[in-house]
Amino acid sequence: MDSQVEYVDIALAGRLETLRQDFSLHLKGIVPHELCRLLIESIDHRSPRCIEKGDVDKEIIKQCEKNVFTDELCTLLDAYFEQQGYQVMWPRVDVVGDDALTSYASTTWHLDHGLKGSLKLFVYLDSVADHGCNTLMFDRGRTEHLRQAGAFPLSLEERKDDLTCELEKLHLSTEHISFDLEAGDILLFSPFVLAHRCLPPQKGKKRHTVCFTVTPFF
Ligand SMILES: [Fe+2]
Repeated sequence: MDSQVEYVDIALAGRLETLRQDFSLHLKGIVPHELCRLLIESIDHRSPRCIEKGDVDKEIIKQCEKNVFTDELCTLLDAYFEQQGYQVMWPRVDVVGDDALTSYASTTWHLDHGLKGSLKLFVYLDSVADHGCNTLMFDRGRTEHLRQAGAFPLSLEERKDDLTCELEKLHLSTEHISFDLEAGDILLFSPFVLAHRCLPPQKGKKRHTVCFTVTPFF
């Protein structure tokens, strides 16, 4: 067997196993640093006018798609979703500022609602080390215990940004899961299986991401 093909298959098998077991996966170095820098520049210089902003976002998303949905990633998604197949939906450019606790609903612990089995794919255009903003998660087991204990209310006002007390009451570890994402890295995870929240950036900093939802085919 060709050694290159064998290597790709081993890498794919490892990633698939991680995604199936952990429901999260960190893929490194997917979008080149220079492109990330250019995309951030165009995001930060977008006109506030809706139509122009929309056109810039479309172009940013197109650039990201070209780098992200390579044969390698598509093969992984094909294997993950199996016969059902998948589709990539609702691409979005996001900027999270240091006022996120009051302006961004996803800073509290929650589970997403929608098409079960979907994955969120975040492209981090800047590094967590630069702004401190990250996606924090709890593993499947603790998420299920917390869910049964009513820790993820539907009402945004009732959601919490700290579940330490709830976890301690359940005698579960309070450690969250997160990755040291660098510019150009991808976070792929199941927002229906893993409780998650966005940790806001440090004062004066912001996070730039492009997000895609990968749903089972419908
Ligand atoms: Fe979410």
